[in-house]
Amino acid sequence: MRLASLSLEFEGDLVELGCYQGDTSLLLAELLKGVKSEKRLWIYDSFEGLPEKTDADFSVAGAAFKKGELFVTKRKVKLRFLRANLPIPMIKKGWFEDLDPEKDLPEKICFAFLDGDLYQSIKTSLGLIENKMSEGGIIVVHDYDNPELPGVTKAVDEWLGKNNYKLSKKHTLAVLTCEC
Ligand SMILES: C[S@@+](CC[C@H](N)C(=O)[O-])C[C@H]1O[C@@H](n2cnc3c(N)ncnc32)[C@H](O)[C@@H]1O
Repeated sequence: MRLASLSLEFEGDLVELGCYQGDTSLLLAELLKGVKSEKRLWIYDSFEGLPEKTDADFSVAGAAFKKGELFVTKRKVKLRFLRANLPIPMIKKGWFEDLDPEKDLPEKICFAFLDGDLYQSIKTSLGLIENKMSEGGIIVVHDYDNPELPGVTKAVDEWLGKNNYKLSKKHTLAVLTCEC
């Protein structure tokens, strides 16, 4: 939350690609409420669980991450916000690959939390947000260097090869800040 909090001074909204049941989303919403921010939170998920893995995702340690795992309904996530007395975020159901960055994402982003677990999901997420990050904005990718989910590291490393961002690591979080 410290990184999200730091990002609030920059232009734009907060996004989470891969919200699952909303644990992190609730924390982000609480942060915004706590500081009376007018920024909005946008959260995304298939609400059908994980998609199929690609070869880049194969690892013995990560055998449990199968297609359809981490299924939750959008309704359940909405209810959690209501029960916590927090504003309901923009909740978008669908595959990241089907999102239109112009229509489905905010115009500017100050903080992006990418938690799609798999190579294609992280690659797509980075592509969706890359032209929307505000100067100083922070991208956090969960599961970087996690041996269970090798596709995450591959997607981030490939993306860094083409973009002017600095990578810092905190446990299995890749923190990406623009060096432009
Ligand atoms: C590890 S969970 C997210 C956990 C959540 N960020 C948290 O902090 O509690 C990963 C989520 O990403 C979603 N997901 C993965 N790839 C996706 C894709 N290509 N399109 C849509 N949702 C995807 C899955 O449905 C799953 O709910």
